[in-house]
Amino acid sequence: MAFGWIDEEAESRRRAGLVRALRPRPADSPLLDLASNDYLGLSRHPEVTEGAARAARTWGGGATGSRLVTGSTELHAELEGELADFCGFEAALVLSSGYAANLAAVTALAPHGSLIVSDAGNHASLIDGCRLARGETQVVGHADPEAVRKALRTHDGPAVLVSDTVFSVDGDAAPLAAHAEACRERGAGLVLDDAHGLGVLGDGGRGAPHAAGLAGADDVVVTVTLSKSLGSQGGAVLGPARVIDHLVNVARTFIFDTGLAPAAAGSALAALRLLRREPERAARARTVARELHARLTAAGHEAVRPHAAVVSVRAPSPEGAVRWAAECRAAGLAVGCFRPPSVPDGISRLRLTARADLSEGQIEHAVRVIGETRP
Ligand SMILES: Cc1ncc(COP(=O)(O)O)c(C=O)c1O
Repeated sequence: MAFGWIDEEAESRRRAGLVRALRPRPADSPLLDLASNDYLGLSRHPEVTEGAARAARTWGGGATGSRLVTGSTELHAELEGELADFCGFEAALVLSSGYAANLAAVTALAPHGSLIVSDAGNHASLIDGCRLARGETQVVGHADPEAVRKALRTHDGPAVLVSDTVFSVDGDAAPLAAHAEACRERGAGLVLDDAHGLGVLGDGGRGAPHAAGLAGADDVVVTVTLSKSLGSQGGAVLGPARVIDHLVNVARTFIFDTGLAPAAAGSALAALRLLRREPERAARARTVARELHARLTAAGHEAVRPHAAVVSVRAPSPEGAVRWAAECRAAGLAVGCFRPPSVPDGISRLRLTARADLSEGQIEHAVRVIGETRP
């Protein structure tokens, strides 16, 4: 039977407790949200939703074509200019998602004969970028600049280090300064995915590369998503103008993809302007993360010290994590549940989002529910 093997796979997933299913949420969910990536609580901010509505009214429901044909509006150019300026880079290129931005950056910057050094904890979109690129990939130990140095020494010719700045599963940070030093010894470039850093880390949320003094360097390229702290949708690559021009000419997920929907560009731009005006939102997200972590560890949970706004709590097993998350939900609390194959080390976790708009009472309530429902 065609696709018969799917049933066997589904059965082994069920036996391992790894079945995934969609759960559409209502517009007015009663759950306290510690599961989304809406780190600054901006996705429903009136200025952000009005930015989306105004853009749709002005430019239409879709971009109408790929960026090189009809899909580049003045709004896209405005967003690119303001993103680059905010994060401290010469230029930016907006794509339809952070995923597409990572595929674009890695494939365009790792040609045939080059070496890609990739952190073992990287996000799936960077891993897929490595798989699609013509260069050869060496996966190195997690957050280990010495391993990067060793890998780079094995290769003569163009090389690039590819790493998340804040890792999406545990919320820990890459040692950016030490990585940059290792790369510069060999003339290698850095491609850094700041999906979880933008809006949370650095001066007023300018991101982890900005905080590490790497923004605007001619050997540093950064990718971001517009879907987390900016509460919108889409992605971008930031870097030197010559790198961005190169991407416009060769990056397939840019060239062969319809431009970002105007509503998404408009809401991202509104969120960015809000963040500029209210930089304290970034610091508040970090404070909430530290507070959550301190209370969880004081209550005896094993939680990784957060670097940005992700707080990860160990669960005993994939089934235990699923049950724990379900019981939290039944008690009115939405939390993320990460388990294989989404975790590089096979350890299942609850993943909590430290949103800047959580109150003291909500933090206390969340910690209490997590404690009471622990498997
Ligand atoms: C580290 C990281 N990079 C890239 C992405 C992809 O971004 P997007 O959702 O905009 O495609 C995500 C999550 O979605 C992520 O966590």
